[in-house]
Amino acid sequence: MKRILVAVDGSEPSLKAARMGADVALRFGAKLTMVHVVPKLLLPPDVYGLTIAEVEKEHRAYADRLLEHAVATLDESGLEISTSVLYGAPAEAIAEEGAASDVGMIVIGSRGHGAVARMFLGSVSDRLVHISPKPVLVVH
Ligand SMILES: Nc1ncnc2c1ncn2[C@@H]1O[C@H](COP(=O)(O)OP(=O)(O)OP(=O)(O)O)[C@@H](O)[C@H]1O
Ligand SMILES: [Mg+2]
Repeated sequence: MKRILVAVDGSEPSLKAARMGADVALRFGAKLTMVHVVPKLLLPPDVYGLTIAEVEKEHRAYADRLLEHAVATLDESGLEISTSVLYGAPAEAIAEEGAASDVGMIVIGSRGHGAVARMFLGSVSDRLVHISPKPVLVVH
């Protein structure tokens, strides 16, 4: 287990998953990579009165802040942590990153920011467990 991938959307379940991922990484002597996926735009940017370049810049800055915050919530010392911003459909992008040969496991939260409380899994965690090429640890 060389590297553990954690996917965060900034929600409390995802930060809990990050802590679990860090814990597992430390015990395996593995590195931790935290990723956030910027999803595709639902509407063309001119609907918001912005250019594509402006929207991409804002998304990138948002993703950077989100990852920085997620790293800051970990107090594990002696852990090598890297971050990466991915683009596209979240579950597909996470699965693709997880396909890298040094990734041994993917850790995610069961739910995220979505508010349909009766569902056990969110759409991203549900899809990822179906398509992931690597073991997925879903943290409740
Ligand atoms: N954009 C994203 N980038 C990285 N990880 C994500 C992203 N969205 C979700 N995740 C990961 O997937 C976990 C489950 O989130 P998911 O989006 O499936 O649930 P939800 O937000 O409650 O439901 P939905 O989005 O379907 O309304 C999160 O805790 C996080 O680990
Ligand atoms: Mg979600």
